[in-house]
Amino acid sequence: MVGGGNIDPWSSEQSTDYDRMIEQFGLTPMELGSVPNPGMLHRRGIVFAHRDLDVITDSITKGDPFGVLTGLMPSGRMHLGHSMVIEQVRWFQEQGADVTVAVADLEALATRGTPLSNGRETALREYVLNYAALGLDSDKTSVYFQSSRPEVQRLAFTLGKRTNLSELDAIYGFGGGTNLAHVQAPLVQVGDIVHPQLDDFGGLRPIVVPVGVDQDPHLRLTRDITQKTNWFNVKKRKSGGLTVALSVQEDNQAEMGVSHSGRIDMDSRAKLVGNIVDSIAELGFSDIKSNPKHGTIEIPGATMGDRSRIRIMLLQIERDLGGLGLMPPCSTYHRFAVGMTGDKMSSSKPESTIFMDDEIESMERKVKRAISGGQPTVEEHRRLGGDVSKDVAYQYLQFFFESDDAALAEVKSEYESGRMLAGEVKQICIDRATDWLIDIKQRRDQMEDSIADFLAPDAI
Ligand code: TRP
Repeated sequence: MVGGGNIDPWSSEQSTDYDRMIEQFGLTPMELGSVPNPGMLHRRGIVFAHRDLDVITDSITKGDPFGVLTGLMPSGRMHLGHSMVIEQVRWFQEQGADVTVAVADLEALATRGTPLSNGRETALREYVLNYAALGLDSDKTSVYFQSSRPEVQRLAFTLGKRTNLSELDAIYGFGGGTNLAHVQAPLVQVGDIVHPQLDDFGGLRPIVVPVGVDQDPHLRLTRDITQKTNWFNVKKRKSGGLTVALSVQEDNQAEMGVSHSGRIDMDSRAKLVGNIVDSIAELGFSDIKSNPKHGTIEIPGATMGDRSRIRIMLLQIERDLGGLGLMPPCSTYHRFAVGMTGDKMSSSKPESTIFMDDEIESMERKVKRAISGGQPTVEEHRRLGGDVSKDVAYQYLQFFFESDDAALAEVKSEYESGRMLAGEVKQICIDRATDWLIDIKQRRDQMEDSIADFLAPDAI
């Protein structure tokens, strides 16, 4: 159903050609050492790419407010694959982020036929409880339902005006036979992603969305749409510095100094441009050249590093004038852990993953059956060593169960040298996973009565 090299976020197929994705979708490769206090998934290169993460690291370093948004599909059981995003959410929260969690009950209805009441049950019992167990802080976490937050749905409509079927077709491979609820779902997700910036939900601040790379189509759509709504664009100036350009649109003509006849009303245009020049000067720039007629303001002394704070200031002006003033979301992308059966992890294939509430015995069975990177005979293994890139047990230690980098490195070198056998790696994985499952169960038991603390007022 999906054309030319697209990824379909609803598909069960999985592409793992990460370099190609970086290239094709214009992601920025994650550089090791580029984030302060890197979490386990950063240190291990599992979070491999991002968009605009520098905006977030800037907020972290300066102690400025920022938010993290994530969403969950309330269908099926929560498994290790889902926990990767929450691991990152928790990390962002520890770095100062407020957390918003969207329960995608409308999307589950649209794409999986899950009734809203079942979605609610599953979201709380299966997901939110595990999020609590994984360490999210209820004081700084707010869970809401798409179906009961009118502001999100309103944004889906308002922003839906900025796209059309051809664009959705190009991104998602929609066609004439696509169910219309399915067409609405990505627009609601755009609403999920941008609404924390609204004044009623925390106000203008950067929002980061950590996702698996299969969700990038939603982020591209969101960025594309928000950029179309912006009243002011900040670009690189040809001869050095930055240029601010007005974006005259159907619904902002009066504010932009354009009269009904389409002529520029020089008085109001000059007032607007003067207002912007003053605000830029307040940020500390002295050399500012403006051309009210063309609607441009040049700042030769500004660098790309100044872009973000100039943009935020302009978005605030846009809001003061009655516009939406939306920032494009920042995002991070993680690699997928291989499924235990060799293909994609999925709750519909219980053998492919470990569920958050799996029994120890079933975890053990799955690890024992999983593909290893060992050699066919012990003699060959001692001589050639194991291959961690094929070894599921090793990868599960790396992605989930062994938080100690030195201990992980030790397993790797022992295994690659042939001193450690595949069965021994599996046993280590089973031991670590056993501790992990027991620990998370205990935490769930402790948090069981506190789920309501995580819910937004409109979710109770
Ligand atoms: N589409 C996501 C999924 O399939 C769920 C989701 C809804 C989401 N809104 C979101 C994810 C916003 C991230 C951000 O799991």
